[in-house]
Amino acid sequence: AARMHVEAVIPCLSDSLSQANISLDNIDAICVTCGPGLVGALLVGVSAAKGLSEMTGKPLVPVNHINAHISANYLVHSDLKPPFMTLVVSGGHSEIIKVSDWNKFEIIAGTRDDAAGEAIDKIARVLGLGYPSGPKMDNIAQNADVGRYTFPKPTAGSGLDFSFSGIKTFALNLIHQYEQRQEKIDIASFAASYQSSVANVLAENAVAACIQSGYNTLCIAGGVSANSFLRKKISELATANDINLYMPPLDLCTDNAAMVAAAGYYNFINGVRADLSLNAYPSIQQMQY
Ligand code: KG4
Ligand code: ZN
Repeated sequence: AARMHVEAVIPCLSDSLSQANISLDNIDAICVTCGPGLVGALLVGVSAAKGLSEMTGKPLVPVNHINAHISANYLVHSDLKPPFMTLVVSGGHSEIIKVSDWNKFEIIAGTRDDAAGEAIDKIARVLGLGYPSGPKMDNIAQNADVGRYTFPKPTAGSGLDFSFSGIKTFALNLIHQYEQRQEKIDIASFAASYQSSVANVLAENAVAACIQSGYNTLCIAGGVSANSFLRKKISELATANDINLYMPPLDLCTDNAAMVAAAGYYNFINGVRADLSLNAYPSIQQMQY
């Protein structure tokens, strides 16, 4: 992944500038994701951004990847303002985060093991659905029978935390049992039942977090927030509990550069700057921006 980043970073930058029909002179700041994520890939971006900042004399602005996912919502919902609750669900994260101010975050629940996206990708691969697995599993399950297969609830204890390793193993075992008995699985219904189990707990805990904290605004973010089962369930629960729900459009759910610019904008106007000592931070606990 890091080697691919090295190959792609300069062509991607020149393509972006030429497609937007602008030059580096039109840019106010160089915003870069410095974590959390895979450290090798992050380092390529951080090094490229440092080089650009040195070359152009423009300020270097560090961005937290999770904050960037949340900020995708600001690009399309101009009335969304803190305080609000947010559910961040991606390939590497499943967190409920209280956003009390533009740059004040408190993680109030998370996953004890796998992320929701990882649990979806793994089962989609085993079902042979191909790549990209999340959207493929979502599509195949449209109009299928969500009650056909039953899965354990992916929670951890009595709080708001998630645990997706159990449901993943349960699904893998079920697939193997069908294979051993040489029985066919109804893949569309299996995908629908599995995704609705994952989506229900994400939606229920996010709405419960709002109720417990007295928040009446909720937004969702991250690749898995594109999932139709999650969008439907969380919309129903938000309406039933008088919660204002904000969801990014599908193309701003998965990783994209516009969301990094959106988060970077707020850091920039708040005076957040980095110098050449900026590093890459793999874990969310080490993050400061
Ligand atoms: O936010 P993202 O692009 O990258 C990370 O920061 O991890 O999220 C990627 C994840 C993958 O697990 C992908 O399968 C999942 O988001 N995803 C979906 C859908 N679209 C993307 N999962 C379920 N349904 C979708 N429609
Ligand atoms: Zn992401």
